[in-house]
Amino acid sequence: MECGGPLAKSCWLLLLLLLLPPSHNHQGQGLRQITPTQGIQDPPAVHLSNGPGQEPVSIMIFNLTKITKFSSSFEFRTWDPEGVLFYGDINPKDDWFVLGLRDGRPEVQLHNPWAQLTVGAGPRLDDGKWHQVEVKILGDSVLLGVDKEEVLHLRQVSGPLAEKPQPVMRIAVGGLLFPASNLRLPLVPALDACLRRDNWLDPQAQISVSAPTGLRNCTVESQPGIFFPPGTHAEFSLRDIPQPHVEPWAFSVDLGLQLAAGSGHLLALGTPENPSWLSLQLQDQKVVLSYGSGPGLDLPLVLGLPLQLKLNVSKVLLSQGPKKILALPPVGLDSLLSLWAHPQGRLFLGTLPGEASSASFCLDGLWAQDQRLDMDRALSRSQDIWTHSCPQSPGNATNTTH
Ligand SMILES: *[C@@H]1O[C@H](CO)[C@@H](O)[C@H](O)[C@H]1NC(C)=O
Ligand SMILES: *[C@@H]1O[C@H](CO)[C@@H](O)[C@H](O)[C@H]1NC(C)=O
Ligand SMILES: *[C@@H]1O[C@H](CO)[C@@H](O)[C@H](O)[C@H]1NC(C)=O
Ligand SMILES: *[C@@H]1O[C@H](CO)[C@@H](O)[C@H](O)[C@H]1NC(C)=O
Repeated sequence: MECGGPLAKSCWLLLLLLLLPPSHNHQGQGLRQITPTQGIQDPPAVHLSNGPGQEPVSIMIFNLTKITKFSSSFEFRTWDPEGVLFYGDINPKDDWFVLGLRDGRPEVQLHNPWAQLTVGAGPRLDDGKWHQVEVKILGDSVLLGVDKEEVLHLRQVSGPLAEKPQPVMRIAVGGLLFPASNLRLPLVPALDACLRRDNWLDPQAQISVSAPTGLRNCTVESQPGIFFPPGTHAEFSLRDIPQPHVEPWAFSVDLGLQLAAGSGHLLALGTPENPSWLSLQLQDQKVVLSYGSGPGLDLPLVLGLPLQLKLNVSKVLLSQGPKKILALPPVGLDSLLSLWAHPQGRLFLGTLPGEASSASFCLDGLWAQDQRLDMDRALSRSQDIWTHSCPQSPGNATNTTH
């Protein structure tokens, strides 16, 4: 590596940043060295879920003057097309680096005195399989390798560091150390991903590491979807999701229900003060449609077929495949439709405020007006919702959130 030499700090920034993905497992020995898989035992993996605050799951600090190894590597798997893998900086204002995913492909954003750039490279990696990533600094270049292939070679992107009395590099895994709006090209940082076999820069140079705060256990096999463990919720402002058709007025929501257990709300339309003007609840293996506090109409729960709720000026229609319920509310449909003019109009998913719910469910998708909604763009949500994955069976789901 050409960055060697006591004064060749130019490479360090980049290297450090690159090399410093998430090392959460510091039990006083610096970076974890993971040996190749032995037998059927998989190496431990850490989840990058960092909740709605989108904080990193781990932050490391390195002494720049001590770093001798200028590469970092890790493996990750995800079904999430967008988010931050790691961030590194010497100075969050004018010397930082981010490796993330956008549309499923790696993206580097970099800002330092020598270069400011945003570049995407390589294949889609949001296929739920483990992928290996390596970031290296060589001279004034940064190299990105994916699954042992070089997918990006950035030249002339590094230079000598200004002498600082106590230069340190910070590495944040699964999040940023500045507001997402400071990125060159905005990205929603939260990444529903698991990470393992991580090696960040030079353990000898590490000054500190925060305890990992990953919320989930990565031992469970996952499939693409959205998973609401019991007691979790999310809400969208009706202003932030696709708007109703105007002439004639019509609105639809589709839920691809794949797994469901327990009892409680799946979905509701309302306001924070009065959350269920119209609601869908899971109850004894049935889906119950209720209007206000009136009596409900129910459909037997069938998994695998999309559940569709359609509203127009004269009807509320719930259907699942060939089964349909037509609900004609005696009063109040006008006020339901007026929710869209209400500044606090909401689409709620999962547990409602104040509700004690045991319902847990997996959706293979959620659509409003036939457009997919992204849980990362919810107005608010519980930290432990799986935004882009579901357990493969509900049994192992509930006892794996902790
Ligand atoms: C970094 O290492 C150098 C050399 O060992 C030492 O003098 C300096 O105090 C260290 N800086 C920090 C911030 O620990
Ligand atoms: C993850 O879950 C597995 C199986 O449920 C359990 O054996 C393991 O201890 C859990 N790991 C952590 C870190 O919670
Ligand atoms: C999940 O549950 C299935 C069947 O219920 C079981 O075969 C599998 O081993 C479980 N997986 C984990 C990781 O606990
Ligand atoms: C409302 O929806 C129902 C069922 O989809 C449909 O039969 C009816 O024509 C619609 N009414 C209006 C006014 O669009």
